[in-house]
Amino acid sequence: MERKVKELIDRLEKNHTLDTAEYAVLIRERTPETAGYLARKADALRRSIYGNSIYIRGLIEISSCCKNNCLYCGIRRGNRECERYRLTPEQILECCAQGYALGFRTFVLQGGEDPGFSDELVCQTVRAIRNRFPDCAVTLSLGEKSPKIYRLYHEAGAERYLLRHETADPVHYRKLHPREMSWAHRMDCLHVLRKTGFQVGCGFMVGSPFQTAECLAADLKFLEEFQPEMCGIGPFIPHHGTPFREYPAGTPELTVYLLSLIRLILPGVLLPATTALGTIAPDGREQGILAGANVIMPNLSPASVRKKYELYDNKLCTGDESAQNCASLRRRMEKIGYEIVTGRGDPAV
Ligand code: 5AD
Repeated sequence: MERKVKELIDRLEKNHTLDTAEYAVLIRERTPETAGYLARKADALRRSIYGNSIYIRGLIEISSCCKNNCLYCGIRRGNRECERYRLTPEQILECCAQGYALGFRTFVLQGGEDPGFSDELVCQTVRAIRNRFPDCAVTLSLGEKSPKIYRLYHEAGAERYLLRHETADPVHYRKLHPREMSWAHRMDCLHVLRKTGFQVGCGFMVGSPFQTAECLAADLKFLEEFQPEMCGIGPFIPHHGTPFREYPAGTPELTVYLLSLIRLILPGVLLPATTALGTIAPDGREQGILAGANVIMPNLSPASVRKKYELYDNKLCTGDESAQNCASLRRRMEKIGYEIVTGRGDPAV
């Protein structure tokens, strides 16, 4: 094996930090052999903290309406073809009840930035879930809001917030988003969320248009510095109704490699093998878990709306993707030596 790359992996395993330039070397000079070496270290480190436990989160896609126009995203404002829907609090609670019976103890309410879903209604819904399922955690993933709104969400009982930073490189950010959106504001939101008291998740797409090894190295450095409790990454997958329809998808290979690197940078991080990874490769979920991921987020949205929340083409939403097929998911995980556990799954460190 390349001595330099192996030396970098060994040092990362020991110190959980490298220079940005060193991260770029790890990305550029990876081989199947170094990827295997890295994955074994990531798996061992995850096992030393979390054993063979895999945490599940029930994902409820509460609204496909969005005021933003991100160039990669299927539910962008400019996509006329996207069917828009908004769940009612009653529908959301019903999803939670179904999820609870299946063993879920975390509910993730995700949606576009939908001004029609008022902050008061979000708070009411969070309070209702916490009242009815006091042993469950509520995670929100509703985009950029003001510090005041984040505080209200937190006071209502939401303890976790997912907001992918999308890219740590401001120049790259410009190429993925329209002018009215701002990299600085997004990064600011992550710091506000942290200060508000949330467990915070950030993350990025792998293989998004114009992404370079240097962009990814900056993402890894950002993770190292920000120390998020959670981190979501998945391959970019083109959506036919977006300006990026012709761009190639990210690869499962690079996604899995980055999952391993993230595990070595943030030993205790809650790291999902995402739906996008499961979409791009039939065994993507398994590959992700074997390389250091420890969370899976099956879809708990009502079957009638699932197809409408189409962030990218062919997004999985039935099959083992759906929360209703937990038994099958459990078997798949057992087959590779892991166990799905019930419980809130808070960070271990
Ligand atoms: N491919 C992969 N992931 C996407 N997301 C949005 N559009 C796509 C796409 N075309 C991701 C973004 C967003 C998260 C909810 O979904 O990173 O933050």
